[in-house]
Amino acid sequence: MKQLALITGASSGIGKALAYEAAAQQIDLILVARNGSKLIEAKIELERRFGISVDVIVKDLSNPEAAKDLYQEITSKGLQVNMLVNNAGVGLYGEFVDTPLETELSMIDLNVSSLVVLTKLFAIDMKKRGEGRIMNVASLLSYLPFPYYSVYSATKAFVLAFTETVGAELEGTGVIVTSICPGPVDTNFTTAEMLGTNAYKTNKPVEASFVAKVAIRHLLHGKGNKVIGFNNWFISNLPRVTPDSIMVKIKKSLASQVKQKE
Ligand SMILES: NC(=O)c1ccc[n+]([C@@H]2O[C@H](COP(=O)([O-])OP(=O)(O)OC[C@H]3O[C@@H](n4cnc5c(N)ncnc54)[C@H](OP(=O)(O)O)[C@@H]3O)[C@@H](O)[C@H]2O)c1
Repeated sequence: MKQLALITGASSGIGKALAYEAAAQQIDLILVARNGSKLIEAKIELERRFGISVDVIVKDLSNPEAAKDLYQEITSKGLQVNMLVNNAGVGLYGEFVDTPLETELSMIDLNVSSLVVLTKLFAIDMKKRGEGRIMNVASLLSYLPFPYYSVYSATKAFVLAFTETVGAELEGTGVIVTSICPGPVDTNFTTAEMLGTNAYKTNKPVEASFVAKVAIRHLLHGKGNKVIGFNNWFISNLPRVTPDSIMVKIKKSLASQVKQKE
């Protein structure tokens, strides 16, 4: 039977790459983001190249009410979502006392609240049907909360913990809830300031298409959480064997700007 996947944040970066990977598997799509013209561009290209059907819905998910509207819009069209990918997310780099509170509250609404709304509404339907897959995009920082990414790290730690617990509750129902944790990825997410940190110098961003390949395999066949890339898996395990006080120093140094030579 034809499968239908809903991907949030599909107008660029990892979400767009996920749409292409899913389309190559002949999965029909609903793509969501704020930028309607980028979504329409993707729709035209995906339908032409892969012969699948793509619906486009423009929503600003930094308002969790919009996530509820999105669910209503989809169900009122009679569409049945077999796979939900909560990918839409934003980051912010900077010292917490200097960064704008409104930006951080809006980030929590997008990265956390809307993700919870969509997971709940679609999981209820999936559980009733006894089938479905939900994949949430977390981050390497879910394991390693970094200084200068305080609120962002916390949102991604939430995503990882939330996914694990809901996944455990739904075990045996036919609904599989997973997450992925990419390290640095070359997308619009990455600002020049981030690129100037020691972390980006030592752990170079990978292509979104590489992440999407691994992620779609995980969405279709995986269980639990997948850290993407061996180096990131290794880094994610460092806190298990390193005292907290040393770990914080390492992370602070990695998240700091590279010192320019005089
Ligand atoms: N890049 C990395 O290094 C990295 C690493 C680990 C995890 N991640 C995670 O990967 C996910 C995708 O990020 P990316 O790297 O692909 O960055 P990106 O290229 O900036 O993509 C973000 C996507 O989210 C959408 N989005 C942003 N704000 C939105 C809003 N208010 N409502 C609806 N959609 C919104 C954007 O579309 P519009 O602007 O059109 O709305 C875009 O499609 C995020 O959850 C991010 O935290 C990224």
